[in-house]
Amino acid sequence: MTSPSPASARLTPERILVCIAWPYARSATHVGQIVGSFLPGDIFARYHRMAGHDVLMVSGSDEHGTPITVDADRLGITPRELVGRFHPRIVETSRRLGISWDLYTETETPNHYRVTQEVFLRLLQAGYLFKDRMESPYCPTDKRFLPDRYILGTCPYCGYPDARGDQCDNCGRTLDPTQLIDPRCRICGSREAPIEIRESEHFFLDLPKLEPRLLAWLQTSTQHWRPTVINFALNWIKEGLRPRAITRDLDWGVPVPLEGYDGKRIYVWFDALIGYLAASREWAEHQADPTAWERWWRLAPDGRAPARSYYFIGKDNIPFHAIIWPAVLMGLGGLALPYDIPSNEFMTMGGQKASTSRGNVIWTTDVLDRYGADPLRYYLAATMPETRDTHFTDAELVRRNNDELLGIYGNAAHRVLTFAQRHFGGRVPAAGPARAADAALLAAARDAFAAAGAAISEVRLRDSLDEALDLARALNRYLENQAPWKAIRTDPAAAATTIATAIQTLNALKLLFAPYTPFSSQRLHELLGFSGDVARLPWSPAPVPAGQPLPGPTPLFARLEVPAAVASAGSA
Ligand code: MF3
Ligand code: ZN
Repeated sequence: MTSPSPASARLTPERILVCIAWPYARSATHVGQIVGSFLPGDIFARYHRMAGHDVLMVSGSDEHGTPITVDADRLGITPRELVGRFHPRIVETSRRLGISWDLYTETETPNHYRVTQEVFLRLLQAGYLFKDRMESPYCPTDKRFLPDRYILGTCPYCGYPDARGDQCDNCGRTLDPTQLIDPRCRICGSREAPIEIRESEHFFLDLPKLEPRLLAWLQTSTQHWRPTVINFALNWIKEGLRPRAITRDLDWGVPVPLEGYDGKRIYVWFDALIGYLAASREWAEHQADPTAWERWWRLAPDGRAPARSYYFIGKDNIPFHAIIWPAVLMGLGGLALPYDIPSNEFMTMGGQKASTSRGNVIWTTDVLDRYGADPLRYYLAATMPETRDTHFTDAELVRRNNDELLGIYGNAAHRVLTFAQRHFGGRVPAAGPARAADAALLAAARDAFAAAGAAISEVRLRDSLDEALDLARALNRYLENQAPWKAIRTDPAAAATTIATAIQTLNALKLLFAPYTPFSSQRLHELLGFSGDVARLPWSPAPVPAGQPLPGPTPLFARLEVPAAVASAGSA
C-alpha cells in the first residue's frame, strides 16, 4: 500500500467546509447531540487542520420556530428570554468539550436576518418561490393558526400517535400538519372545539421545479455517501416532491421581507439551513475580509466546487440536508452543494432515542463533571453510531477509559516517561542503530498516519481511532519484549534505544489521538518537552530530538468509576 506523503499533502491544501447541525437553543446540549454532530465534526475538522487543509467550521444555535415558542410558552417567558438562557450554555459546554469552532453563532443576529431575507428574495426573483393560499389548521379556542409543533396527531405513514405537525419522530418522515390523522391542539388539547381548517397565504419552495436537477445530482455525486442518507433522499424523490411552505403564521423568527406579511415569519427550517451560509459570511466579516467565505462556497466559472463541504447531522435531519438545502442552493446558483452528509444514527439512552421533548437525555455537563472532556470524547468516538444505533452507559464509558485510554495509551506513556526520568536524567536518550523491532514499531507509526488519515477523510472516525489504539497496543508489546527495565542493568545502550524509540512512538500517538482527545494530547506534547499548541502541528510523525529535557511526568489519565449515586439510579 502506498501512502501519500504528509509533506506533499500539505503543499496542496484542500478547502474543507465543516457544517455542524444547529441545536435548538431551548435546552443545554445532551450527549446525543454531541455524538451525532458536534464531536464528529470537531474530530474531522481537527484532523484536516493538522493535515494542512484550509478548514472552516461553523454552526450556531437554532433559535426560531415552534420548538422555541412552545417551550417559552410552557415556561411563561418570551422566546428571546429562552434563547438568551440556553445559547450561552451551549457555547460554554462546547468550550469545555474542546469543540474547535471557527464560529459558533446564533440565528438571532442581524447578519442572519439579512442573509436569510436576501436568500428569500433571490429565490423569489429566480422563480423558485411562489405564493399560494394554503389550508392551515386553526384553533378556535386559542384563536390562532397552529403551526407545526402546535399540532399533534397520528402519523399517516406509520400510525405513531404523537407525530408532530412537521415531522414524525417515529418514522422520520416530514409532514404537513394537514396530513395528521385526528389532529389536536397542543395548547388546549382541542377539548372544547376541534381544530378547523382556514385559509392562509404562504410562500412555497418549488421543489417539483428543482426535482430533475436534484435527482441528476443525487444519481451522480453521491457514491461516497452513507447508504441511509442516499436511500432516504432517493426514496423521497421517488414518492414525488411537493412544494413546501417556507413561511408560518407565527410572530417569532425572521420576518418575510415584503409588505403585508406582518403576522408571518420564515419557517425555522428554512432559516436554520441558511445559517451555514450566514455563519460563513459572519466569520468572514470577523476576518476583516468580507469575501473570505467565498473560498468555501463560490463555484468557479467552470462550475467546479472550491471546497468539499461536509454536513454533520443526526439522521432525523437527513431530509432537510439531502433535499431541501441542496434545492435552495441550486435555486440560488453559483454555490457549492454538499459534498457529503455523513449522518449518524442515534445514540439511545435507556433504550429510546434521546430527545429533549421526551426528557430521556443525558446532559453533557453532567457527564463532563463526572468524567472530564477526554474520557467522554473518547467513549463517544469509540462507540459513535456511524452505521447503527448505539447505547450510552456510564459503565461502558468508565470501562473504556480504564481499559483503553488509561490501560493501553496512558500507562504506556507513563511507564516510558518515568523510566526516562529515572534512568536517563529526564532527557530523551540517544538511540543506537535501529534493531528490527525498533524499525518495525516506527514503520507501524508511519503506517498508522496514512491509515488513520484515510479513515478520517472518509468519515470513518471509529476506524481511525482504532488505528491510534492499535499503535498504542503495539508500543506496549514492544516494551514487554524489549524489557528496558532489565536491559538497563545488562545493556544500557539497548535500553536507551528502546526508550528513545518508545518516545518517538508516543510523539506519534499524541498526534493520532489529537483529533479525539485533544486535551491529553496537549499534555503529552508538554510531557515530551515541547511547547506550543498541539492542534497546529502537522499530521506526520516528527522526531523528538535526543537530549530534549523532559519535565517530571504526571499520569495522562485517571482511573474512573461510576459515582455510587449514578450507579444506583440505574443509568449505568
Ligand atoms: N435545530 C435542528 C434540530 O435540532 C437542526 C437544524 S440543522 C440546521 O433538529 F442546520 F439546519 F440548522
Ligand atoms: Zn387550542
